[in-house]
Amino acid sequence: MLDSKELRNKYLNFFASKGHTVIPSASLIPENDPTVLFTTAGMHPLVPYLLGQKHPGGKRLTDVQKCVRTGDIDEVGDDTHCTFFEMLGNWSLGDYFNYESIGYSYEFLTKELGISPSRLAVSVFAGDEDCPRDVKSAERWEELGIPKERIFYLPKKNNWWIAGTTGPCGPDTEIFIVTDKEPCSPECSPACDCGRYVEIWNNVFMQYYKHPDGTYTPLAQKNVDTGMGLERTLAMLNGYKSVYETDVLRPVVEFVTASCGKSPEGETLKAIRIIADHIRTATFMLGDEFGIVPSNVDRGYILRRLIRRAVRYARLIDLAPAALTECAAKYVEIYAEAYPELRTNREKIMTELDKEIGKFDVTLQQGLKEFDKLLKYIQDKRMSGKAAFRLYDTYGFPIEMTLELARDNGITVDLEGYERAYNEHQQKSKAGAEQKFKGGLADSSEATTNLHTATHILLAALRKVTGDETVMQKGSNITPERLRVDFNFPRPLTPEEIKAVEAEVNGVIEAGIDVVSEEMSVDAARAAGAIGVFGDRYGETVKVYTIGDYSKEICGGPHAKNTRDLGKFVITKEQSSSAGVRRIKAELKK
Ligand code: ALA
Repeated sequence: MLDSKELRNKYLNFFASKGHTVIPSASLIPENDPTVLFTTAGMHPLVPYLLGQKHPGGKRLTDVQKCVRTGDIDEVGDDTHCTFFEMLGNWSLGDYFNYESIGYSYEFLTKELGISPSRLAVSVFAGDEDCPRDVKSAERWEELGIPKERIFYLPKKNNWWIAGTTGPCGPDTEIFIVTDKEPCSPECSPACDCGRYVEIWNNVFMQYYKHPDGTYTPLAQKNVDTGMGLERTLAMLNGYKSVYETDVLRPVVEFVTASCGKSPEGETLKAIRIIADHIRTATFMLGDEFGIVPSNVDRGYILRRLIRRAVRYARLIDLAPAALTECAAKYVEIYAEAYPELRTNREKIMTELDKEIGKFDVTLQQGLKEFDKLLKYIQDKRMSGKAAFRLYDTYGFPIEMTLELARDNGITVDLEGYERAYNEHQQKSKAGAEQKFKGGLADSSEATTNLHTATHILLAALRKVTGDETVMQKGSNITPERLRVDFNFPRPLTPEEIKAVEAEVNGVIEAGIDVVSEEMSVDAARAAGAIGVFGDRYGETVKVYTIGDYSKEICGGPHAKNTRDLGKFVITKEQSSSAGVRRIKAELKK
């Protein structure tokens, strides 16, 4: 048996013994990455060093990084998915490469953790026009004794790693535990999700930079970036069926089970796990050194959704919502040694959770009654957008929750109608202050369409030039003559910044990049790194507009087909809009 503390220590000590400096986990809130809301991998805080900046700890680093990934939130409740997890990682910043990296991983797994080599399988990159087949890594695995039939060559889809859409990246070799499950077919491989192969470690050979136009160039140095999921590895090592049996989650699962007095199986088990997972993530978000609080946009909205979903599942299994705060208290204790910030911020965690839970629990009961009433009157098994908006506006149901409830009850929701109702409401509440506010595109002539596309590029350029990844659109108004966009930023832009932004936008226009539109679920959009403007307006399926690797936004459109249609971009005005919000007006000249 090995617990979380032992695994963290074993890992860090092993890599320290191989000359790696142990560094602390960075915040869950990324400081310089506009493409993600939360730190999703150990490499995020290290990007500048992967690109060549010198790290004070040297060229070999190791850590345990707290991570949040909400892309798979619907899978939470099964044996392996969590919205929060710890990633054990080691890095070579232009020092050793795949030969040594694979050697270290093999030694750690077989000698330190005592995993039999016969239980290991690996995948390596099969090669394509961007990067050659990774024969060297495969040969290294063979040299260590992994037989050919357990070395799988897989394509970019499986064996290439990049955070978001642009930046450092490269082919990887992934390490799997072969379980007792029989192969699902003669072609069964780590690429299928039948459960025979469970991934525990990913070693990325980061040697390329992916540019906004989709091309790759070699990095100044060849790096190694690895990541191993702590909970999954613990479960595998201890022969547990699920990550919820590990020592970091089990006490809370047991507490919730005992408190609700129900047998932990079927839907009850799923609810217990969702509660344990969501409250753990909420605890870490609230207790982070750059902690956030629930709100209606971006990070705060994700936190709110997690807490409200936990409250709903608590009620479903007759668990008093106050027990959720007790779960958080348990997590503070479980993690106090590894993440002392939780203890430092204990008061804040408890107070904010109490507040959010209390507020929502009152309206949840009424909202659920309203939902049941609606069910009786619904026609064609379809809930109107107005009704969904009422659940949001009056009872605080995030639209995702209404969708989930609807799905559970076999009905659909008129999402477009919901968005319309939402927009009308937004406009009404803005009308007094700003008579002419039109809330988006008033017409879709070529001129306005082009200006709309320019707005997306402009926002991406603003983030890039100012280095402030929190820059978001706060309002937009487009006429055939000009665009006007409001965005959060604490000070006026300097004349140099304005010039740099113009140059950035014109660079993207001149690159002649296709503007691609795709429909996907909100979570898929988030996972793909899409940026959304109004965090609480999203429906189940959204349109995502991608401009090469430069911009990815959730948006209704319409947009230009290619950036070259836009002409020359000129900023005509930069001024204050309101406290903390700047306004830019710009035109496109033919
Ligand atoms: N950055 C790599 C991952 O997250 C190691 O899988």
